[in-house]
Amino acid sequence: MASGATDTSASERREALKGLFREAQACVRCAELAATRRTVVFGAGNADADLMFIGEAPGASEDEQGVPFVGRAGKLLETLLGEIGLQRTDVFIANTLKCRPPGNRDPQPIEIENCKGYLLRQVELIQPTVICTLGNFSTKLLREDPTGITRLHGRPEVILLGHRAVRLYPIFHPAAALYTPRMLETLREDFSRIPELLTLGAPPQPEPLEMLAEPEPEIAARAPEPGEAAAAAVAEADQLGLF
Ligand code: URA
Repeated sequence: MASGATDTSASERREALKGLFREAQACVRCAELAATRRTVVFGAGNADADLMFIGEAPGASEDEQGVPFVGRAGKLLETLLGEIGLQRTDVFIANTLKCRPPGNRDPQPIEIENCKGYLLRQVELIQPTVICTLGNFSTKLLREDPTGITRLHGRPEVILLGHRAVRLYPIFHPAAALYTPRMLETLREDFSRIPELLTLGAPPQPEPLEMLAEPEPEIAARAPEPGEAAAAAVAEADQLGLF
C-alpha cells in the first residue's frame, strides 16, 4: 500500500474500519432494509488493499453469510481475479448498499444516499489506489454522474473521493456478464488491464488547501433490541475476521 509519511498506519486504519463496521451493524437509516435484512454486509478482504471492488448490494446468499459476492457472481469475480493472479484476500470487496434490498430489487436513491457515508469512509480508511466499480450503481455514485457503464467500462479516470485522489476503473457487473457471453468477454478484457493500473500507484494527491476537512455525515444508530446484542457479537466475531 502506497502511503505518505503523514498517513496513519495500516493497523490504525484497520482499527478505525472495525469501528465503522460496528457502527454499520446498528444502522437503521433505511427502515425497510433494517427490518428485512439478516446481516449488514459490510465488506471483506484486505483492509490495506491497493485494489477495491464496489458492487451493487448484497443478494440472498450474501445476506445469509454476511460476506459480499459469495453467490454465482462472486464465483465469477473470484475466477477473474485468479486470472490476473489475485485472490479475494488481496483486495477489498464492498457494495454500494450494505443491506439486501428485499427480493433483490434495485437500490433506491434514498438508500444509496443513506449508505454513501459508509462507503466513502471505507475508501478513506482502506486507501486503495484503484477502485473498480462493478456496474451502474457504484459507478454513478462515485462519479456523481448518470453516465452508464456501457459507455464508461474499461476507461480508467482519476477522481477525488473525500480527501484522496483514486484511479476509478468502471467495469461490467459480473452478475450481468454471467448471462451474456459477449459481456463476459469484455469484462475479462477490462479485467486484464487491472495489473497495469495497479503498477501506476496512487495518482497525484490534491494540495492540502483542497483537503479542508468536511464534516463526516452523521449515521443513525439505535440501541440493540434484547437478543440482538448477542447475535451482533457472533456476527462481529465472524465478520471482523474478514478484513
Ligand atoms: N451482487 C452485488 O452487487 N453484490 C454482492 O455482494 C453480490 C452480488
